[in-house]
Amino acid sequence: MKALFINGSPRKNWNTFKLLESAMKGAAEAGAEGELINLYDNAFKGCISCFACKLKNNKTNGLCAFKDALTPTLEKARAADVIVIGSPVYFSNPTGVVRAFIERLLFPVLRYDLNDRTLIKKIVPTAMIYTMNCPEDYMEQVNYPVLLSPNDQALKMLFGYCETLYSCDTRQFTDYSRYDVTMFNGEHKVKHQAEQFPKDLEKAFELGKRLVEKAIKN
Ligand SMILES: Cc1cc2nc3c(=O)[nH]c(=O)nc-3n(C[C@H](O)[C@H](O)[C@H](O)COP(=O)(O)O)c2cc1C
Repeated sequence: MKALFINGSPRKNWNTFKLLESAMKGAAEAGAEGELINLYDNAFKGCISCFACKLKNNKTNGLCAFKDALTPTLEKARAADVIVIGSPVYFSNPTGVVRAFIERLLFPVLRYDLNDRTLIKKIVPTAMIYTMNCPEDYMEQVNYPVLLSPNDQALKMLFGYCETLYSCDTRQFTDYSRYDVTMFNGEHKVKHQAEQFPKDLEKAFELGKRLVEKAIKN
């Protein structure tokens, strides 16, 4: 049982990473072998529209035909039983590299057949974990669940299952006093990190565990 964790933040030890790390611990408790990949370590592009994966009788088998630094990660994702993608919210979207990764992961498994949309023949539980500055009570007002949902919906359509976890009001800076910021209160962020973030880590742990248990049952 293999579980793959994709960090779509350029920061390797911050909020998104920590949630993924916790999800990976949960997955390990359920019996999975986990691996975490930092997307920013790879120089890669999004889908280049070559359509090799849409040719009749093509042999790509759901793996992107365009070979670059992302190929080993895509191979691991294609072989994984569970996939968890973590992304900070950048301008109401996942980060650019996460979008590029999702294009390269999903387009090759998408079939242009109304009766059978996917090459994936078993359920591969997936999840998106989003981190953001936005406070919990403001997230709905700025429509983030709706704006972010195309990613989750596409994963659900093609892999059969997707959960979403939002971690709000994250701490962005170690020392807020060094930055030109009046919109966020450093003391509030430190308190929120101490009080709410551990609860989000726990939710991520449970999520990782649950996805693996689901993969085992399938
Ligand atoms: C370029 C950029 C754009 C951002 N845009 C948003 C945004 O639209 N909404 C939001 O709530 N937070 C936004 N943020 C804040 C990040 O989503 C937040 O700090 C996140 O937790 C960072 O993840 P990390 O700590 O794993 O790097 C932005 C941060 C950056 C650097």
